[in-house]
Amino acid sequence: MTQEIPRDDLPGQGLDPEKMPGHWLLAQMGKRVLRPGGLELTQRMLADLKIQADDAVVEFAPGLGVTARFALERQPASYIGIERDEVAAEQVRRYLSGSNRQCLVGVAEETGLPDRSATVVYGEAMLTMQAPDKKVKIVREAARLLKPGGRYGIHELCLQPDDLPDSKKEAISRALSETIRIGARPLTVSEWQALLEAEGFTMASQVTASMHLLEPKRLIQDEGFGGFLRFVWNVVQNPVARRRILGMRAIFRSHAESLSAVTMVGVRRGAVDAEHPQNPR
Ligand SMILES: C[S@@+](CC[C@H](N)C(=O)[O-])C[C@H]1O[C@@H](n2cnc3c(N)ncnc32)[C@H](O)[C@@H]1O
Repeated sequence: MTQEIPRDDLPGQGLDPEKMPGHWLLAQMGKRVLRPGGLELTQRMLADLKIQADDAVVEFAPGLGVTARFALERQPASYIGIERDEVAAEQVRRYLSGSNRQCLVGVAEETGLPDRSATVVYGEAMLTMQAPDKKVKIVREAARLLKPGGRYGIHELCLQPDDLPDSKKEAISRALSETIRIGARPLTVSEWQALLEAEGFTMASQVTASMHLLEPKRLIQDEGFGGFLRFVWNVVQNPVARRRILGMRAIFRSHAESLSAVTMVGVRRGAVDAEHPQNPR
């Protein structure tokens, strides 16, 4: 399912491979699926979001547009991606045609979109990398955009069990941040849940999966066999990328007991428009 994209057209081009964020390094090497639970958890999230023809969809941080394509297959009434990286936004736009499909360069915490203008909002692998106050702002923005009854899906890294000691949480965050060269602050499942509930969501579903982003079986599932071979070939050819990516995998493996992926969908609380119950106010 993955496609060859010239390296010059990918985010991270021109950055020092030693220092660039891990997700862009993986993208430069040919990886397209950049979320911790892979396509399997993405499909679970999409099934629980139940996107239909009358939905107004907003995606936070679409990255290279992999999930945007699945969402668009469901023919929603509209789709707006909000992506911070201009080069990534350009990649997403390649999949968009028609007047009600756009990808804007912007930040999820302040989209500039109108209140209650969406019925579905989702974002993958983008909250974990935010500081605590930014996480709250982004979830609050999803709540502001959604009509009551609207659905919000997330797909992120999580820590387990729920009572993991703070010292262990901090050690894992530090190790992850050092290896992926971007702040990574995963929460436990109950902390993610509490974050959504505090901002006006009622939990509808939640699924976890192993954090196997860089394990061969998951790589083949996510990228296809050709994409897997291309990725491995690119990594083997590039000593800096090889060292960094093996380093990332070593950290994921050494914390495998405490590190997982989670997707959850929350429903926006609030009064439903009696005239249009399927499209609440
Ligand atoms: C790990 S990648 C995940 C991309 C995509 N969601 C996926 O799962 O494949 C993180 C993405 O979040 C974007 N991003 C990070 N913070 C953001 C923010 N505050 N607003 C919008 N996009 C953001 C990055 O530019 C990048 O595309």
